[in-house]
Amino acid sequence: MRIQMVLIILAALFFTSSIAFSQQELERMDNSMFAKTVRAAAVFSHDEHNETAELEDDCSVCHHVYEGKKLVAEESSEDSMCSECHELKATNENGIPLEVAYHKRCRSCHFDTNKGPVLCGECHKKE
Ligand code: HEC
Ligand code: HEC
Ligand code: HEC
Ligand code: HEC
Repeated sequence: MRIQMVLIILAALFFTSSIAFSQQELERMDNSMFAKTVRAAAVFSHDEHNETAELEDDCSVCHHVYEGKKLVAEESSEDSMCSECHELKATNENGIPLEVAYHKRCRSCHFDTNKGPVLCGECHKKE
């Protein structure tokens, strides 16, 4: 009985420490602009992602530019954070709140192309 307990504890320790180790290497989004977060920041390795998804040639897929509510084709805004234009709540100038902006951009492409993660826990991996 006691040996079994010790083995279970050892296995648990090994398991948690190996998770902690492997997760140190994950690159994550900066979620500091959300007033209060309920999920671990999403995993996202910018350059690696865009290379495998073949998006390096069109930065404006994500970093778009708008004039009023009209998309300006072929111009990109990679010097701006999404949160510079998308606020936590919809505004008159921008009807897409920040969280919706991320999910609509990230998750929708994965869903539509059937590639990349679509489940909450696949992006918001526990720390
Ligand atoms: C394709 C990746 C992806 C998927 C799938 C995804 N999210 Fe997100 N989510 C993000 C990104 C990117 C952000 C913005 C930065 C951050 O918080 O990591 C975000 C932000 C959030 C936020 C606001 C920040 C916070 O922690 O409160 C919530 C809440 C959230 N997601 C919940 C969910 C839930 C619930 C699901 C499943 C129904 C989900 N997400 C699926 C990528 C994803
Ligand atoms: C799949 C979507 C996507 C594509 C495509 C993309 N980016 Fe980004 N990029 C992001 C996100 C998300 C951030 C984080 C900004 C934020 O959350 O506000 C970011 C941040 C950046 C930053 C700021 C980094 C920092 O730490 O301040 C630069 C510079 C940048 N991207 C350049 C580019 C360039 C150049 C391209 C095209 C070669 C590109 N990006 C393509 C999503 C993308
Ligand atoms: C220079 C300002 C600006 C920046 C930077 C910006 N957006 Fe937007 N975005 C807008 C405006 C304006 C709209 C239109 C809102 C409306 O129709 O009310 C919009 C619309 C959207 C939409 C809905 C239309 C669509 O294309 O599907 C998504 C999703 C979105 N943005 C995601 C993002 C993400 C993710 C980032 C950061 C990588 C980002 N935006 C950066 C201004 C910006
Ligand atoms: C225009 C399409 C597109 C957009 C936009 C997009 N992705 Fe992806 N993503 C992909 C594709 C395609 C893959 C699968 C790449 C492969 O492994 O073949 C992928 C894979 C991933 C993966 C799995 C690991 C990896 O890096 O390959 C993560 C995590 C991810 N995406 C997060 C995000 C986040 C977060 C955003 C928004 C900031 C985002 N993606 C926006 C197309 C997209």
